[in-house]
Amino acid sequence: MADQIIKIRNVSFTYPEAKTPAIDNLSFDIEHGSWTSIIGHNGSGKSTIIRLLNGLLVPDETSKAKIEIDGTVLNDDTVWNIRDKIGVVFQNPDNQFVGATVADDVAFGLENRGVPRSEMVKLVPAAIAAVGMTDYTNAEPASLSGGQKQRVAIAGILAIRPQIIVLDEATAMLDPEGRDQILGIVREMKEEYDLTVISITHDIDEANLADQVLVMNDGQLITQGRTTEIFTQTKLLKELGLDVPFFTQVKAALVTAGVPIPPIVNSEKELIKFLCQLNSNR
Ligand SMILES: Nc1ncnc2c1ncn2[C@@H]1O[C@H](COP(=O)(O)OP(=O)(O)OP(=O)(O)O)[C@@H](O)[C@H]1O
Ligand SMILES: [Mg+2]
Repeated sequence: MADQIIKIRNVSFTYPEAKTPAIDNLSFDIEHGSWTSIIGHNGSGKSTIIRLLNGLLVPDETSKAKIEIDGTVLNDDTVWNIRDKIGVVFQNPDNQFVGATVADDVAFGLENRGVPRSEMVKLVPAAIAAVGMTDYTNAEPASLSGGQKQRVAIAGILAIRPQIIVLDEATAMLDPEGRDQILGIVREMKEEYDLTVISITHDIDEANLADQVLVMNDGQLITQGRTTEIFTQTKLLKELGLDVPFFTQVKAALVTAGVPIPPIVNSEKELIKFLCQLNSNR
């Protein structure tokens, strides 16, 4: 079912004192249950989009601006309700903790929402277990590794049962192993709870995990499309100062070297399969 969980229409936003808008007449849709990556150089407006989505910032007053989340138009009356639907994991794991222990921290969001204790004693351990941190339930967040901290941050969000989970460069400070673990957990949670995922990332291989990619430049949406469509536009990506995924680079180099790779080969896995077959046919 292709329903749109996020609809943004004609949204512009200018920070106070800024001369140019940080977001310039932005419109896009995000399908329920999809994984979307937002890429773009530093300052292109990616984090500002998220602040607009959860109502921390309000669009410039233009008559046509509209943000709709899960069928509800964002306004003063709906903002609290909408904020509960969107969980954001930020870049710096150390800035996201409020509790003295992992359990306290995960419980915080629920306490804030007045969830009864009888409910909390079920929800908190379940969320901690979902991210594989049960053994650390009573640990101090400060004693954890970066990857473990991000897992606890995700548990805190899961406990509130959002519909949308946003990773705003959430893996940027992690080593490759920590990054893969976090992305694996998010993927599992997405399947289990039918979540919609938005990942803002400078890591092009992480962006490559998405179903669709939005490309931002100076507050404008330059292009959007299926991941394979976007990442084959090497010229555009390079013009915008963005990296091209490793797989796309390898494929392009092979094509240049005269290896007949069919256009349907659109992932690392398919490429390996194709090359193995090519080799065994010789
Ligand atoms: N609080 C603020 N006050 C004024 N200007 C801001 C503020 N936050 C961001 N900006 C400006 O708005 C523009 C968009 O910033 P934003 O943080 O959304 O970019 P970004 O794409 O998330 O960048 P990065 O990749 O560095 O996180 C930039 O020009 C930035 O300098
Ligand atoms: Mg940002």
